[in-house]
Amino acid sequence: MKFQLLTVAAALFVASATALPAAQTDSHGLIPDTDDFVDDGTIELIEARATVANDAVDNFNFTADFDFALDRILAEIDEIPDEVLEKGDEALHQWLVAHGNRAGNEKLKRDDASEAENLSILERGELAARASIWKIAKCVAAIVQLLGTTAVPAAKLLRIKKYIKALGGAKKAVKLLLGATTKAERLKAGGQALVSLASELLGISTVKKNCF
Ligand SMILES: *[C@@H]1O[C@H](CO)[C@@H](O)[C@H](O)[C@H]1NC(C)=O
Ligand SMILES: *[C@@H]1O[C@H](CO)[C@@H](O)[C@H](O)[C@H]1NC(C)=O
Repeated sequence: MKFQLLTVAAALFVASATALPAAQTDSHGLIPDTDDFVDDGTIELIEARATVANDAVDNFNFTADFDFALDRILAEIDEIPDEVLEKGDEALHQWLVAHGNRAGNEKLKRDDASEAENLSILERGELAARASIWKIAKCVAAIVQLLGTTAVPAAKLLRIKKYIKALGGAKKAVKLLLGATTKAERLKAGGQALVSLASELLGISTVKKNCF
C-alpha cells in the first residue's frame, strides 16, 4: 500500500516536473553567470557577502582607469532592445552574435585577461605598483569583454538598462559612476539607481572574480 502511494506520488512529481519549461542547456561555451536578483540592494548584499565583502562592493572605486570600459559596456547594454531581453537568454545570445558583440560559432576566448597581462608588462615600476596595475587591468579587461565572454542573464541586463535610463542615459551613468567612489557618494549623486547599477555590474561573476 505504502509502495503504491509512493509510486503515485513519484508519478505526479515527474508529471509536474516535466510540465515545467525546459531549461536552456546550450551555454554556447560562455561562462555561465548567476542572477542574483536585487531591486533595492538588500537581497544582493546578502548574496554578495558570501564571496566578496560587502564594503568592497559598496565602496569599489571606479577610478579614471575605468572610463573606457564603463563607457563601452553601458553603451553596449543600453543598445540591446528591451524586446530582445524580454525574450530571454537565447534571444539575447542570437542578438549579440548578429550585432558583433559576441563570437558565434568560433570557440569563445576564455576570460583569462591575457591581454591585460601584456599591458602590465609594458609598465615598469616597483612591484607593488605592478601588482596594482595588473589588478586594475584584469578588472578593466573583464568589464570590456563582459558580453562576449559571460552569459549574463537577460533579466539582469534589463535591470541594468532600467538603472541607466533612470540616471539619464549611458554617458551620464558612466560620469556618475566615475565621480562617486563610495556608497554614500553614489546615493547622493544618483540615488538607489546608481548604487544598484554599481552592485549589478560588480555582482556579475566574471567581474567579481577579476575585480576583487
Ligand atoms: C578613488 O580613487 C581616486 C583616484 O585614485 C582617489 O583620488 C580617491 O581618493 C579614491 N576614493 C576613495 C574613496 O578611496
Ligand atoms: C602577449 O604578448 C605575447 C608576446 O609578445 C604574445 O605572444 C601574445 O599573443 C600576447 N597576448 C595577447 C592576448 O595579445
